[in-house]
Amino acid sequence: MTWRPVDLDPVALVMVGKPARGKTYTARRLARYTNWLGYRSRVFNVGTYRRERLGAGQPASFFSPDNREGRAAREAMAEAAVDDLLAWLVADGEIAVLDATNSTRRRRAWIRGRCEAAGVQPVFVEVVCERPEVIARNVREVKVDSPDYVGRSKDHAIEDFFARIREYDRVYETLDPTHDADVSYVRLIDMGERIELNRIEGFLPGQLVVFLMHLHDLQRPVYLTRHGESLFNVENRIGGDPDLSPAGQAYAANLRSWVAEHLPTTQPLTVWTSTLRRTAQTAQGLGRATRAWKLLDEIDAGDCDGWTYGEVAERMPADFHARKADKFRYRYPRGESYQDLIARLEPVVLELERQQEPVLVIAHQAVLRALVCYLVGSPPERSPYVEVPLHTVLRITPGPYGSEVVHLPLGPVPAHPAAP
Ligand code: F6P
Repeated sequence: MTWRPVDLDPVALVMVGKPARGKTYTARRLARYTNWLGYRSRVFNVGTYRRERLGAGQPASFFSPDNREGRAAREAMAEAAVDDLLAWLVADGEIAVLDATNSTRRRRAWIRGRCEAAGVQPVFVEVVCERPEVIARNVREVKVDSPDYVGRSKDHAIEDFFARIREYDRVYETLDPTHDADVSYVRLIDMGERIELNRIEGFLPGQLVVFLMHLHDLQRPVYLTRHGESLFNVENRIGGDPDLSPAGQAYAANLRSWVAEHLPTTQPLTVWTSTLRRTAQTAQGLGRATRAWKLLDEIDAGDCDGWTYGEVAERMPADFHARKADKFRYRYPRGESYQDLIARLEPVVLELERQQEPVLVIAHQAVLRALVCYLVGSPPERSPYVEVPLHTVLRITPGPYGSEVVHLPLGPVPAHPAAP
């Protein structure tokens, strides 16, 4: 990657927390968000090192503080992960996330020393949750599918995992302002209910705290759709503020019926549109609270606004080819690039994360491509090439180990020719 939002010293985000508290989920989301913003970020999961080197399926007793051999093996795995993390950060990275319990002050002091010696800023991110029902849900829904329990019964996995948690309970030391006064840390308590900060300094750690403040652990789908076909789509013209074509109006009617059938008013749903006519017309009659965002307006085609792709090729051939060569970074004269669009959409992404209820976003091709990249964790450079067809609802359900994407074509088939 050759672009970065700001030039910064490398940061190591060091996860802290007992098992089954949502550390891996949080770690992955931090990496996904920062990658999307253009940082080079990567997760180093100590459990993966353990499984690769010792094999999966270590029983709870392996994690006992009384098990000297297990302790030595776990320390060796942590060392291997930290070695790789620092080597990667120093050579090539900007943000690395160390995903492990890092449960004792001794272990954390060691990590901090290693980071500081390498010129890396460590920020500890503790995920705290003592609600038995949430822990039980995480064990039941996530941990039983862990590679540690392949071939074992669900009951065995649950029992063993709770035994593992009890082993960690015996030695776990939380971050606190007395013992950790000089440590840079964030404590996320009950996934978004409360957040505690200590010595959070600098632009990036501050930006990450804002992101963490928006997270919750409720899984709900996000629905994305482009507006119905517009009069500009029919002619392959870009930008503008045209009305819907007859086919676009038919799509708006299909969307109304689909929403009524699949997301009935007994279920919560928030609708977001851009401020452009074609999205408002597509949302008409849905009968739901609708919010129009300027931030969701289509990529600004600047001097080319309202032109066909053919006109751009004819009148500005150098620009036409420059866009073909690097569509992600190409910025329309007095307009935007996809890269600009991602920076513009950051508040939308934060707000999407914060929503606890399903959201239907009715927006535009380039905007939705950028949002899909965030939601599925694709590199932002791929955003200009993501398929977001007209007259189709994309249902994206984020989960702990990836997002499920379903395309729901509602018709009619748009009449306009395909864009180049
Ligand atoms: O053609 C419809 C449209 O939404 C235009 O308004 C916009 O400029 C374009 O799609 C974005 O797609 P691309 O980046 O492939 O030109």
